[in-house]
Amino acid sequence: QQVAVITVDGPSGSGKGTICQLLARELGWHLLDSGALYRLTALAARHHGVELDDVEALEVLAAHLDVQFKAADSGHDIQIILEGEEVTHAIRNERVGEEASVIAALGPVREALLARQRDFACAPGLVADGRDMGTVVFPSAGLKIYLDASAEERAQRRYKQLISKEPGASLDDILNDIKARDARDMNRAIAPLKPASDAVRLDTTTMSIDAVLQAVLDEARHRG
Ligand code: C5P
Repeated sequence: QQVAVITVDGPSGSGKGTICQLLARELGWHLLDSGALYRLTALAARHHGVELDDVEALEVLAAHLDVQFKAADSGHDIQIILEGEEVTHAIRNERVGEEASVIAALGPVREALLARQRDFACAPGLVADGRDMGTVVFPSAGLKIYLDASAEERAQRRYKQLISKEPGASLDDILNDIKARDARDMNRAIAPLKPASDAVRLDTTTMSIDAVLQAVLDEARHRG
């Protein structure tokens, strides 16, 4: 029997991460943060001194990623352990995101991460967050959502998250990074970021997090 899957795809800063966490909590389902796997591969490459154009070595790293996702003691957050080292926060910085997007354009790396992503689909269900969840990884998901927002709004959201941690952060730099990452993710030859033909598309530019969550839950209930 097939496990229920909801896929949520979209560009950086569209609110996918937050919505997927809330959705998984609300439904009591598992969560796949597929971007974390690309980020972990990028970080592992740095730890092992592997260059970002060494496709063979990157493929081996991706296939053998030694990673654990642990429920943290405090509440619902997940701790991420790579090769015995806690990297929960280390994988979130902009540089790792940029490197992840470079190696995510490599077919053999994507292929190596495919089975690992599908293994997350366990009862009672899975919420899958990424770029190609509905198009490639879970093409027969019962509900596919594509979240979008203007690049300016996404840059604002990222800026608000960053400014407390990095007082020197610049909105212009963030906007440029977002546009560069969009271009790379949407124009790559393999599994480019695009809505699945049967995805429900939501433009979240002027929506609150709660409004987006309710809209997705309505769709999920609607489909039983
Ligand atoms: O979502 P997040 O910012 O963590 O993803 C980092 C990068 O990993 C993205 O910019 C994208 O290039 C890549 N990615 C991907 N396919 C996914 C998830 C992430 O190509 N399913």
